[in-house]
Amino acid sequence: MNIIIENVNIVDSRKTEYGKIVIENGIIVDPSSISEDMDYEIIDGRGLTALPSFADTHTHFREPGFEYKETLETGSKAAARGGYTSVLLMGNTNPPCSSSKVINKVINKGKEIGLVEILQAGTISDGIKGESLDHLDDVRTATSFITDDGKGVMNDKLMYDAMNYARENGLIVVSHAEDHYFSDTDMRLAENLMTFRDIDLCRITGARLHLAHVSTVEAVERIIAAKEEGLPVTFEVTPHHIFGDSSLVYRVNPPLREQKDIDAIIEAIREGYVDSIGTDHAPHTAEDKKNGSPGISGIETSFPICYTVLVRQNGITLNELSRIMSENPSRILGLNKGLIEEGYEGDIVLVETDTEYEIDSSQFVSKGKNTPFDGRKVFGKVMMTIKHGNIVYKGADYDSRQAL
Ligand code: DOR
Ligand code: ZN
Repeated sequence: MNIIIENVNIVDSRKTEYGKIVIENGIIVDPSSISEDMDYEIIDGRGLTALPSFADTHTHFREPGFEYKETLETGSKAAARGGYTSVLLMGNTNPPCSSSKVINKVINKGKEIGLVEILQAGTISDGIKGESLDHLDDVRTATSFITDDGKGVMNDKLMYDAMNYARENGLIVVSHAEDHYFSDTDMRLAENLMTFRDIDLCRITGARLHLAHVSTVEAVERIIAAKEEGLPVTFEVTPHHIFGDSSLVYRVNPPLREQKDIDAIIEAIREGYVDSIGTDHAPHTAEDKKNGSPGISGIETSFPICYTVLVRQNGITLNELSRIMSENPSRILGLNKGLIEEGYEGDIVLVETDTEYEIDSSQFVSKGKNTPFDGRKVFGKVMMTIKHGNIVYKGADYDSRQAL
């Protein structure tokens, strides 16, 4: 619970400095106030960078109902290995998260496991059937987030009603923007049209809207315009939608796009418009993938992909990356995390940024080994993850580094 990380490069969205981080009773304190009569675990940070641990605005842990793909426990371990200590889980479980009972069960089990802070979104429509909102009075007692992620809301009137409800009750609507009439023929139009609709509904209703896994240049442009207009809209992009390699072929929804889309997303990150990285961690078995399930098991490769593509290849600062992986998502999720400053939660990730290595999906602790990044060379390895002053992940490399 009391930790001192010594001789470490400290980076968050606001600063880069060398020194020590002190965590007492789970909270970051002023390093000059180390108390003589308290026990501290000393962590040697030499050669490492400390960042505020990451917060994911978009995660699937599959429980209840699809435990053969992932459980809250394996998902939590995977998140910690990826440097994450906070995740917002989507509600496309079985049963779906359409009641406070299911939502609270997930949250309580997440607490028992204790590796990462689990927030659970409820569904916008009852059962993700796109028909009724009657369950929302119950759902809102357990969560502040609603989404029909995995599917989206096709019915304009239902979405209008849901967004009015969200505004009246202080909920955040997370939109999986996909017009199903176009899913088989034009996935670009499918995303764009629904994004445009949801921005219009945001303007009309005043609801707080968060657009998930935004992947097209057209959607990015409209969202930037909406932000300039002052609408209460935020958006996330995924690591796989910024990985610019046309040889990458993989089934994921929204699909991997074109270079112009990747360029637009990276430019939007550079200009400070992108609010967060959402991994859309979507674990599936090999058999389910063979049968066409869309998705990437991405929470363990998020930091190395983002660091390699954004910082190494595109000159985005590590401070800016920290803003979209920690500070902003923490704010969206309502957490006292995301900065290495006195009074913030002692949630820290130690990373090594100088050594190139290969992604090896057989090392994933997630049940889902479904990744297009196997064998890719990257920089940026998570060595240790700390939540509330407790070590929740320590990589084998951390100890071998100590032995050097
Ligand atoms: O690729 C995806 N997988 N996109 C989604 O929207 C849902 C997710 C899943 O649940 O597998
Ligand atoms: Zn989605």
